[in-house]
Amino acid sequence: MLDNYGTPTIELVRGEGMYLFDSNGERYLDFLGGIATSLLGHAHPEIVSAVTKQISTLSHISNLYANPTALQLAEKLTEMTVGGRVFFCNSGAEANEAAIKISRLTGKSRIIATDGAFHGRTMGALSLTGQPNKRTPFEPLVPGVTHVPFGDLVAMEEALALGDVAMVIVEAVQGEAGVILPPPGYLLALRELTTRYGALLACDEVQGGMGRTGKWFSYQHEGITPDIVTVAKGLGGGLPLGATIAVTPAAQLFTPGSHGTTFGGNPTSCAAALATIAVIESTELLESNARLGGVLKDGLSAIEGVRALRGIGLWIGIDVEDAPAVVRELQSLGVLVNAAGPHTIRLAPPYIVTESQISEFISFLGQAIRKVAS
Ligand SMILES: Cc1ncc(COP(=O)(O)O)c(C=O)c1O
Repeated sequence: MLDNYGTPTIELVRGEGMYLFDSNGERYLDFLGGIATSLLGHAHPEIVSAVTKQISTLSHISNLYANPTALQLAEKLTEMTVGGRVFFCNSGAEANEAAIKISRLTGKSRIIATDGAFHGRTMGALSLTGQPNKRTPFEPLVPGVTHVPFGDLVAMEEALALGDVAMVIVEAVQGEAGVILPPPGYLLALRELTTRYGALLACDEVQGGMGRTGKWFSYQHEGITPDIVTVAKGLGGGLPLGATIAVTPAAQLFTPGSHGTTFGGNPTSCAAALATIAVIESTELLESNARLGGVLKDGLSAIEGVRALRGIGLWIGIDVEDAPAVVRELQSLGVLVNAAGPHTIRLAPPYIVTESQISEFISFLGQAIRKVAS
């Protein structure tokens, strides 16, 4: 493989519930969930059964034909979000690419995004990503994108006032930047500003969506209705699937031939998504994510060496002196998490995590921080 991921230190061969197993037979407690993706852990029986049934019935047909599984999922997603219509793709970057293309069809050309945001690695999505170290080697990117500080409404209004803004795109909570919450009222004000200046408001819910924060989508904590919502990661229950959900008038901008992708709405991925949503609903995981997030935060706040703690639901950023060293130490103790920067550890455990696994994690983290400090 190309060296873009570096060389991993372990090879994982099997997963079961909250645990992963490597090729040497070592077991790991998974508090990363495939980077906020394996919402129901590994090999969840409902997903295995839905995928097995779908793949043995109809696995792929292209978008020249309709398939009932994708239609059912589209209907469900519009109920969970803002109504409107859905475009299916395979990843978060692609979901944002579709949002960029929809915005261009408004006839305006500029897009405003925020510093620190992560929207993906394809050239369009990277143009929205507000992290210079990821962007600079690939410039020139898509023109017309302005970045303003996250949470800064004055800078946002100044950028909007320059005119020709097709879309403002934000993560309601910035995930890759270290689970950063904006000041209360930020999204409400953004909704008001974008409406006033005639720009679309897109919420990138690729990482924060699908229930992680205790609501289906993190923008819902402020009760706004965006024009576009992008979703991926956990949507497919471990299979590749992304979606761009748009409400009118944005929903009417794509017409036949505007956009497409071979695997978009793939029946197998859609079946996995429907099973994932059904389990989250039937076992009331939104409520339990909100509650378990509180338990996790309480425990973490008592650990010496934790400099700061941010988060909402089962999505937490922990600031420590040397995050990569703590991540390595945790891995040697049999726990998987990742560093979202030199000083931040990001937790995004599967929603099936139990209180006793949370206690176990807290004790391992304390141990790892002490070891790194010694
Ligand atoms: C908020 C957000 N948007 C977009 C992406 C890109 O998603 P993908 O890696 O599926 O292209 C990510 C990935 O981490 C993300 O966190």
